[in-house]
Amino acid sequence: HEIGSELRSLGSPVRVGKSDATANPVLAKEFKVRTYPAILMLKNNVKYNYPGSRTKDGILDFADRVSGPLVRSLSSTRLFQHAVSRHKVLVLYVGATSELKANVTATAEELIIHTSFFSASREVLPKELTLTSLPAVLLFKDGTYLTYNEEQDGDLRSWIQRERFPHFSLIDSYTLYAMGESGKLVLLALLEERHLCAESLKLTRTVSAFRKFYFGFMEGSDYIDGLIMGQAVVPSFIVVNLSSDTFFLPPGPIETELHLLHFLDGVLDGSMESLGGNGFSQRIRRFVYETRMTLMPVFRDAPVLGCFLVGFPLSVGCIFCYLCIKNRPSSQDDASEEEEVPLLAPSLQRQKKGTDKKCD
Ligand SMILES: *[C@@H]1O[C@H](CO)[C@@H](O)[C@H](O)[C@H]1NC(C)=O
Ligand SMILES: *[C@@H]1O[C@H](CO)[C@@H](O)[C@H](O)[C@H]1NC(C)=O
Repeated sequence: HEIGSELRSLGSPVRVGKSDATANPVLAKEFKVRTYPAILMLKNNVKYNYPGSRTKDGILDFADRVSGPLVRSLSSTRLFQHAVSRHKVLVLYVGATSELKANVTATAEELIIHTSFFSASREVLPKELTLTSLPAVLLFKDGTYLTYNEEQDGDLRSWIQRERFPHFSLIDSYTLYAMGESGKLVLLALLEERHLCAESLKLTRTVSAFRKFYFGFMEGSDYIDGLIMGQAVVPSFIVVNLSSDTFFLPPGPIETELHLLHFLDGVLDGSMESLGGNGFSQRIRRFVYETRMTLMPVFRDAPVLGCFLVGFPLSVGCIFCYLCIKNRPSSQDDASEEEEVPLLAPSLQRQKKGTDKKCD
């Protein structure tokens, strides 16, 4: 509701509506919605699925980005500087119309859901910005920029997917999953709430040499507790490989940059043991863990309800089993029941003897 009224007061062409997918499954089916809540934007009959954090600012940015042109043109140096200061990450095409520009536009069609695309001519850009050839694609982030090179970086789309996060940022679980798709490992610093000390900023500089990692910090450790199925020590570090649901924990406390470098080297060269994963035994452990985590608060806050929730299905199960066992012999006629008794008797005696011997 807030987003709807804010967009209206800004004079945005975007209209906001909602649909209860449980009451109106036809719409959800038409838009292929699998998980709720889903946030979609429709423009020229193309559906854009919002992939980011469920925050007002995140969704407003998304609406603004998708409603405008796919690739926005920057006509002056001032506009260029404004765009770079406003966006943590942006992709910039420099040059005249070309095949590369067509590729950028085609990529933007898909990636505009999370990344902003701009184009500018060389004259608009500051002199100190060095470009070896034109046309070029640049990605601005962390106060600097990367230049796309098809030979080294592969196709444009995967390059942007891989590089589209700031090297160091606050990470929530949505961002973490999105980062997983980039194929990079994520090094997380677990910190006490809002406690971003100078220490971890210094460490950022250390890890910025590791281009295979994203580095971020997470507030609270609930999400990581769930991943490692235990209590994470705060403050600490963890490396997460989201393509395999595995993680790496440092062998000891990390107090110096050298400790951290050894840890990251170990992760990359495979000498560090990876934990977790999504094998069969891990899934069972996860099931047990999740059941426990769901039931524990219930027992703590309302023990009677907890006992009922666990006890009721259990007792129904027991009664059911009892009835099954009890009904089996009685369904047969009396004669066969009489025959069964002597048959059972010797084996029972033998068992008894066996246990007697054990006692001796
Ligand atoms: C544009 O994309 C196509 C297909 O992905 C690729 O083969 C071609 O080399 C790209 N062109 C440029 C100039 O990057
Ligand atoms: C992360 O997981 C993927 C998929 O299982 C694997 O190919 C890759 O080697 C892993 N990376 C590291 C550093 O373990």
